[in-house]
Amino acid sequence: MSIKTRKVAVIGVGRVGSHVASHLVTRGLCDELVLIDKDTQKAESHRIDLRDGAAFGYHRMTISCGEYSDLDDADVVVISASGPIVEENRLLELDNNLSIINEVATKLKATKFNGVVISITNPCDVVAQYFHELTGFSVIGTGTLIDSARLRAALSRETGISPRYIQAYCLGEHGNSQFVAQSHVSFMGVPLAECLKDQSGRFDGLDFAALQQEVIRAGWDIFKGKNATEFGISTAACELIDAIFHDDGRVLPCSTLLNGQYGQHDVYASTPCVIGKEGVQTVLELNLTIEEQVLMAQTCDIIKKHRPAVK
Ligand code: LAC
Repeated sequence: MSIKTRKVAVIGVGRVGSHVASHLVTRGLCDELVLIDKDTQKAESHRIDLRDGAAFGYHRMTISCGEYSDLDDADVVVISASGPIVEENRLLELDNNLSIINEVATKLKATKFNGVVISITNPCDVVAQYFHELTGFSVIGTGTLIDSARLRAALSRETGISPRYIQAYCLGEHGNSQFVAQSHVSFMGVPLAECLKDQSGRFDGLDFAALQQEVIRAGWDIFKGKNATEFGISTAACELIDAIFHDDGRVLPCSTLLNGQYGQHDVYASTPCVIGKEGVQTVLELNLTIEEQVLMAQTCDIIKKHRPAVK
């Protein structure tokens, strides 16, 4: 009998990548984990540290520090390599990150890798699209998966309802131009408009403009105290990996190539997608209000404006 193992590689094991690796170990999300980083000593220390954690796991997990040649049979490659964070605008990180992405793309393309790439590196939408165009791989940008989680957490705080029972999406750029699709917020499957008829006062104080600003600022508020965001985004990336391996039709907002959805073509931006073993299986289009359609066009324009030429 041959048993197929689940193999994941993390390229760039800094603050974000190392936490992706840690979640993979503690949640037992793969059987083989390969760490790749320019700083080989750091990668080796992470490997040993993770191995110690894996000793508490329920199944065998092989963790190694590898080379690109180890990625021929990887199922998922996570790209979390990044230069320093500069200012409160992820788009300004592009210049620093472009050479890193070029190098990763060249090396990964030279392998026989044929799986799914999860791209975290900022500016997420621009980098994910660039990587897809350079390599032709199936690339998912984590996009507004983290922002939508932040939104659900804030809505939970305001209403007392578990985030698990709140459906709410931030659409567009994983950055300052994203917006909340208010017309598609629902609690326990009940649309917001219906919930507002509730007399309990639970919903009528919701200030969506303030919540949107809170979500946009959230990354920077975290960054202020620790010079990174790491736990939230790594959990989000692992949710995508879990959805890929389970191939259970999970719907998650993430950055993908829009092909006519919202009247947009040839641009990576976040919208809810059905995730499966090949990556994004179906790109869903929400039926937006006129105002939201304008916001979607604006955020897509900003992403398009920052796209580097693919040579
Ligand atoms: C954040 C980073 C991933 O928002 O941009 O946490």
